[in-house]
Order: sequence, then C-alpha cells, then structure tokens
Amino acid sequence: MVRDEIRTVLSSGTPGETVTVAGWIKSLRRSKTVGFMHLNDGSCFDSIQVLIEPTLENGDEVSAQITGASMLVTGVLRESPAKGQAIEIVPTQVDVIGTCDSSSPVQKAGTSFEFLREVAHMRPRTNSLGALFRVRSKLSFIVHSFFNERGFVHAHTPILTTSDCEGAGEMFQVTTLDMDAPPRREDNAIDYQKDFFGEKCSLTVSGQLEGELLASSLAKVYTFGPTFRAENSNTARHASEFWMIEPEIAFADLQDDIALAEEFTKYMIENLLTRCERDLQFFDQRIEKGLLDKLRAVLESDFAVMEYTDAVDALRKSGRDFEFPTDWGRSLQTEHERFICENITKRPTFVVNYPKRIKPFYMYCNDDDRTVACFDMLVPRVGELIGGSQREHRLDILQARMLEHQMDLESYKWYLDLRRFGSVPHAGFGLGFERTLMYVTGMENIRDVVLCPRVPGNAKF
Ligand code: 4AD
Ligand code: MG
Repeated sequence: MVRDEIRTVLSSGTPGETVTVAGWIKSLRRSKTVGFMHLNDGSCFDSIQVLIEPTLENGDEVSAQITGASMLVTGVLRESPAKGQAIEIVPTQVDVIGTCDSSSPVQKAGTSFEFLREVAHMRPRTNSLGALFRVRSKLSFIVHSFFNERGFVHAHTPILTTSDCEGAGEMFQVTTLDMDAPPRREDNAIDYQKDFFGEKCSLTVSGQLEGELLASSLAKVYTFGPTFRAENSNTARHASEFWMIEPEIAFADLQDDIALAEEFTKYMIENLLTRCERDLQFFDQRIEKGLLDKLRAVLESDFAVMEYTDAVDALRKSGRDFEFPTDWGRSLQTEHERFICENITKRPTFVVNYPKRIKPFYMYCNDDDRTVACFDMLVPRVGELIGGSQREHRLDILQARMLEHQMDLESYKWYLDLRRFGSVPHAGFGLGFERTLMYVTGMENIRDVVLCPRVPGNAKF
C-alpha cells in the first residue's frame, strides 16, 4: 500500500499537499455538519485529524465506524484552526479497510493495566502501551549505540546452556527426553547422556560466563539478550523471561565497572530525552508526574557509592519498621533498596562489597575475606537496576570458591582455563532492560513493559 507515515505528515507536511495515510481510528466525533476522525498509524504518539464533511461521498459509512477500525485516507492538508495540531486532512477519499466490532476490549479509554494484560494482543492500541513499545525499541537502539561508539564488540551468547551462572538453581530445563518414560541409569537416576545434548541443558540465566570468554581476548564486549529465570517470585519487578545487557571489560576493576555503569545509565536517559520526547511527555503527564524532571536531575547528579556494611548500619539506625530483617550478612530486599536511594541518598546509588556468602562464585574476593568486589545499582521506585562485579581472576581462589559452591570443576574447565592462560582482572555487570523501562517511563509493573509477559503461571500469547 502506498502511504505516507503520519509521523512524516505531522512533522513536515505542508498545506495544499495531497497525502495518503492509513491507520486505526483513535476517536471519531460524528456531527451533522463536520465530524472529526483521529487516525493513528503507530509511527508517532500523535494522531492526525481527518475532517468528515457532509459532502464526503461515503460519509454515512465512514461515520458509522468506531475506534479501532482501520482506514485509508487520501486528501489535502490544510492548516488546522484547532488547538494542539498544526495540520489536518480534508479528504477526497476515505476507504474502510477493516471494520471494528463493538466488542473490542480496548474501546474505552481509561481501562486498567491489569485488565489490559488479559488482552495483551490488543493493548498496543492504547496510548500508554503504544508509547511504551516505541520507547522500548528506541532504548534498545540507544544501548547498541552506546557500546558501538565506545568500541565494544557485540557478542551473541548462547541461550541454551549447560552452565548455571548465578548458581541459584533457577533454570528452566530443556529436554527432548520422553517425560513420561525417561531413560534411566542403573541407579534409577534419569540418564541425561541420552538427552539431546548428551547432558542436562537449560535456558540461560545470564550470558556473563560466555561474555568473560570473549572478553578474555577482545577486551571490551557486551551481550544484549533474553534471559530466563524459573524463580517463583510473583512481584511487580520479576519476570521469568527478561532481557539483559551485560558488558564485560578486561583490564578493569570494580571502580572501572561502576564508572561504566553510571556513564551508561546517563547516556540512555540523555538520549531518550531527546529521541523520545513526545512519548516521554505522555508518561510524565499520565503515568508518573514529574518524570521528566526526575530524569533530568539524574543527568546532573553524581551517583552515590555506599559500602554494604554502611548501608546495613543506616537501615538499622533509620528507625523504620521493615518487613524483612536487616542483619549484616543478609540480602537487601526491595524495601531496603528503595529506602536507601529514596530516603538516605536520594539519588541512584551503588551499594558495594556485599558479604561473599550471599553472592555467586565468580565475584572477586576482597582482602577482608568476608566480602566480594561487587555492586548493586539502586534507583528510586524500582530498586535494583544493575548487578555487577569484578570477577575472580586468580585461579586458586576461584577454584576454592567453586568447591565451596559444590560445583563440578570438570564442567567448568573452560571457564578456569581463562584463568590459566593469560588471566587479567576484569569486570562486568548486568542491567535489566525491563526494569530500566519501568524507571524511565514510570510504569509500575514489569508485565506492562513486555509485549507478552512470562511470569509464574502465565505464558499466554
Ligand atoms: O543481579 P543479576 O542476577 O546479575 C547477573 O545475572 C550477573 N550475571 C550480571 C553480570 O554481572 N553480567 O541480574 C542483573 C539484573 C538485575 O539487576 C535486574 O535488573 C535484572 O537483571 N533482573 C531481572 N529483571 C526482571 N526479572 C527478573 N526476574 C530479574 N532478575 C534480574
Ligand atoms: Mg542481582
């Protein structure tokens, strides 16, 4: 279909020009004199106004359409007398491409996000989800620009894997064995040697280990891919399938890692502010009041850095009655993370050097032998946005750590080889893409920043 994109018409169409646009009706105001149709084709937030004049040949048919119907309109642009739009179309021809049944679940404005999740196939028609998916796409491109401009190599790390990076036992197993009658060994255990890959295989929880593999020769790499966690937490910030951006840098320590994370976060915000201005204005007005000021303030601020030990002290001294305990040695919960960056530091905050007992095997052991060189980057409202660390590059210490975690050294021989052959200090982090979207749009539930969310009990669509 030859058509002009509404984005182009609105930004550079001139009065007198003839255009053809196609789109879905956002709203239609009928009238005996002149009716108004707002048409949107997804190319930008705003819709274009089409006048429905009594002289229009199939005026009755057009006026009978409702929100959601798809239309093809050819007409002449003219300056619009109405407020909020520079230009409108006086049509010479309007064709109905597809009518919309009145039972459409997204007929009315103001339906709840919760309801919209049930009709995820229709919700991109709403202003908020439409804007969200445009921002999501732009942000993805911005991520690649950041690393590309800095000479990072983009790696496609595997999705099917036999290693468990985080060691949390939260992996989705992938098998071609007959689940009703799997082959058994003599001791009656399932015989995974007969499985597709000759051993147990899962969907990846992180591309980090393979990122380290490539960083051990290309020095600056990143992956941006889907990750999967069979973690049974039904919260507004956990999904079973989410996307993660994981840079890995060689010849680098925790400080370098933190500096990269802050630079990256600011780059994303700065570019979104200029490249998604209209969509973000909508989020500022309708989803999180003050969002734009908040984002601009982040650009001006130096992120805080706080020792885990000091963070725990501050939480205990705060007098706040937390649901979860705040003893040294425990993980920080979302309520703690939010309190730290919303009430104590009041800005994005790196909490560094967590107890080694609660962190994965690969993190660099600090000299105190109690903590590891890692950080969580916390932001207001969302909590943990990034988790990162310097990696243990000393073979003997890494081996000892893996044994403590009861890992099979033989299966990770390749990972240990990276420490045998020219090992260097290196570091990296993982930024949750969906949580970043929540942060920059103000959306409150991770299910509303993903096309078809996968969460415990739900893999519909
Ligand atoms: O802190 P995590 O588990 O770190 C890693 O996976 C490291 N291997 C990263 C690295 O150093 N290369 O996860 C990193 C980030 C979190 O900070 C969070 O933003 C996001 O991934 N994340 C989730 N997002 C949505 N749903 C979940 N279930 C998530 N789990 C982690
Ligand atoms: Mg983490």
